[in-house]
Amino acid sequence: MARRKVAVLISGRGSNLAALIAACAAPDFPAQIALVVANRADAAGLAHATRAGIPTQVIPHRDYAARADFDAALDRALQAAGIELVCLAGFMRLLGDAFVERWRDRMINIHPSLLPAFRGLDTHARALAAGVRVHGCTVHFVRPAMDDGPIVVQAAVPVLPGDDADKLAARVLAAEHQAYPLALRWIAEGRVRVAGDRVEIAAPSAILPAAILNPPG
Ligand code: GAR
Repeated sequence: MARRKVAVLISGRGSNLAALIAACAAPDFPAQIALVVANRADAAGLAHATRAGIPTQVIPHRDYAARADFDAALDRALQAAGIELVCLAGFMRLLGDAFVERWRDRMINIHPSLLPAFRGLDTHARALAAGVRVHGCTVHFVRPAMDDGPIVVQAAVPVLPGDDADKLAARVLAAEHQAYPLALRWIAEGRVRVAGDRVEIAAPSAILPAAILNPPG
């Protein structure tokens, strides 16, 4: 089986990167992480890659006067490593339209909300303030607008009495660690087709309950 060559882009902790590394360790996983790029030298997640023997590169955005120059350096690194798919995993840097178009339908992101609700930052506090009963995460193809693009996988978690932003974030993060490897698997298997603003998935294997009620009925 030829494994698709993936780059993971991070800015910080890298727990989603760790989940992707763990998934790629399975012999039947259809992708391999060939490069991890951070835009900050102090990104703690780089250690996950180093431990796993994955090449890393730091491309500090502060070294580049213009966004386009940073994007070009990033693109050169991806091309040099023969990357086919890009995963943004807590990569907190907006990419320019030209870069996004160049990687159109080959770059995915994970966002800690059920998009299109709660784009941007502080999603957990905002979900609590809005009083939603269900929150979660979304893996989507990247488009020029922030936290926008065709949705591949979403995972929902309940908002529970006594939650604060940290408790809710931890519950969502555990869901992120399931959703991201699943989305990558399906894309790398060639099951995912982007049709306009939506994604079609050929033969997803699991059957879900028709409704998730919270509070339970
Ligand atoms: C994750 O919760 C991810 O969904 C979020 O940053 C965190 C990174 O954690 N991304 C965004 O907010 C992007 N809009 P990690 O570094 O431990 O994977």
